[in-house]
Amino acid sequence: MLQSTKTSSFPTIQEIWEQYRPDLLKVEAQIQKNLASEVPLINQAAQYILNSGGKRIRPLLMILSSKLCPAPGEDHILLAAVIEFVHTATLLHDDVIDEGNLRRGKKTVRILWGDHASILVGDYLYATAGDLGLSLNSQEVNLVLQKACCQMIEGEMVQHAHNSDLGIQESDYLRIIQQKTASLIAVSCQLGGIVSGGSPEQKESLFQFGRNLGIAFQVADDTLDYIAQKQRLGKTLGADLREGKVTLPLIHLLQNCSQEEKKGVARTFGLNDPSEKEFGQVLDLMHRHGSIEYAFSVARSYIEKAMGFLAPFEPSVHKTALQIVADYVVSRDH
Ligand code: IPE
Ligand code: IPE
Ligand code: MG
Ligand code: MG
Repeated sequence: MLQSTKTSSFPTIQEIWEQYRPDLLKVEAQIQKNLASEVPLINQAAQYILNSGGKRIRPLLMILSSKLCPAPGEDHILLAAVIEFVHTATLLHDDVIDEGNLRRGKKTVRILWGDHASILVGDYLYATAGDLGLSLNSQEVNLVLQKACCQMIEGEMVQHAHNSDLGIQESDYLRIIQQKTASLIAVSCQLGGIVSGGSPEQKESLFQFGRNLGIAFQVADDTLDYIAQKQRLGKTLGADLREGKVTLPLIHLLQNCSQEEKKGVARTFGLNDPSEKEFGQVLDLMHRHGSIEYAFSVARSYIEKAMGFLAPFEPSVHKTALQIVADYVVSRDH
């Protein structure tokens, strides 16, 4: 791992956000410019979620990937907005599927305006993203984007089919998160290369960097769902257990605890609304059996793999920035 402290020569993740703020502000302007429905409720709900404090990690990855390639222009700004629209659409749909009440520390769109609005505004953002993407007139861009959207939906669907499945294997889990999360992060990096004159090898390396980082990102997210500080996470702590979502810490626990403990976990898992105490007992078992540490070690191993795909690129400030973002993915607390 990189040493991203103030005393080292590496910038911190906060300094990276600052350094690339001018590009990120252009992405924000691009997002605003394309939110112009004649239906006030669509604009209101879309503005609400788009301005609710998302990290914008996909736009940042797109900007950095683009700058790593020989001919960065301005197309990555437009595409970063496209990616953020797609990401936001998936969140609007995901919160309906997961019955999520809280996102980014605020009430979800479905709580404020209802499930119908959340689905329809999600559809609107998907369509807006498609429209904006087409304006680049690049078949390669469109194919990559459409493929990622299909994969995300497939991942959410397969996850749904495994809902409440305590027998799910780690390999099934990894396949699901590769589709539902890593596919979009992978193409955020790959598209940066596509619009900036990247060679076929560079585009493939960026794709693989993003894919491995994306897997680590979701493993970390699923682990934070158990152990994060509630106010930092901005989502409901323990939501996955309550939603019947069997993620890596739980898979590890079920494979390593005693039959007796397994029965207790299954009982809690089967409850509609487990108490804080019951949730705490599962968490205690996870700590005792090293499940949290295991999940983080898996996330770290994917980050190491991701870093390996940056090897073909010459050293530069942009490469260092990408390494710091990769490091942040497994050290973040929200
Ligand atoms: C949330 O993604 C959905 C997952 C893939 C875990 P982010 O953590 O990037 O969400 P925001 O945009 O910063 O809220
Ligand atoms: C996020 O998945 C949605 C997609 C990646 C499509 P999760 O359901 O795991 O994420 P949160 O916890 O709601 O952000
Ligand atoms: Mg969710
Ligand atoms: Mg989650």
